Amino acid sequence: MKVVAFNGSARAKGNTAILLNVVLAELNNEGIETELVSLAGEAIPGCRACYQCFDKADGHCVVKGDIINDCIDKMRAADGILLGSPTYFSDVTAGMKALIERSGMTTRANPEILRRKVGAGVVAVRRAGAMHAFNSLNLFFLIGEMIVVGSSYWNIGIGRESGDVKKDGEGIQTMNTLGRNMAWLLKRIHG
Ligand SMILES: Cc1cc2nc3c(=O)[nH]c(=O)nc-3n(C[C@H](O)[C@H](O)[C@H](O)COP(=O)(O)O)c2cc1C
Repeated sequence: MKVVAFNGSARAKGNTAILLNVVLAELNNEGIETELVSLAGEAIPGCRACYQCFDKADGHCVVKGDIINDCIDKMRAADGILLGSPTYFSDVTAGMKALIERSGMTTRANPEILRRKVGAGVVAVRRAGAMHAFNSLNLFFLIGEMIVVGSSYWNIGIGRESGDVKKDGEGIQTMNTLGRNMAWLLKRIHG
């Protein structure tokens, strides 16, 4: 079994990465393979609304030359998907939004890519707006017919500078629990 995590932060090694890595470590402890994909530094345009993904229905976005089709391939190969984003102006980052738009439309044209896979969102925040970002991530899973995993609190870690989330003990604990719950569910689904 494999879980792939996408980090939408502009900081590849920032707070979102730290939170995601806590979840991934729990999954590794349960024998589940993991991969972390950073969108930092990637130029990713949003959806063009050409709808050619429906005409071609080949599981790829017709816009080539960026990271999106690799991301869709990784989603297809995975049993579980984590989407992580810092809160930017009370929502996900532009990069994460572009991933959601383009992989979201492509997988609507090819719903078997996400159907009944396990998903969870993870959000880093300095002060406020995290719930809106968290909802944006969860709505991607839900429209993809995925099963969303919960934790002991909503999956949010608090911090500003890179590394600050390590001081948010409850946030880290929430990520530990999230990883264990995701592993539990994956093992139930896949016997
Ligand atoms: C463009 C931008 C917008 C931000 N907007 C918010 C916001 O709306 N609310 C908030 O609490 N923090 C906001 N922040 C702070 C980040 O969410 C916070 O520093 C977070 O820990 C960064 O995670 P990262 O290290 O993974 O990038 C913003 C930061 C940037 C760069």
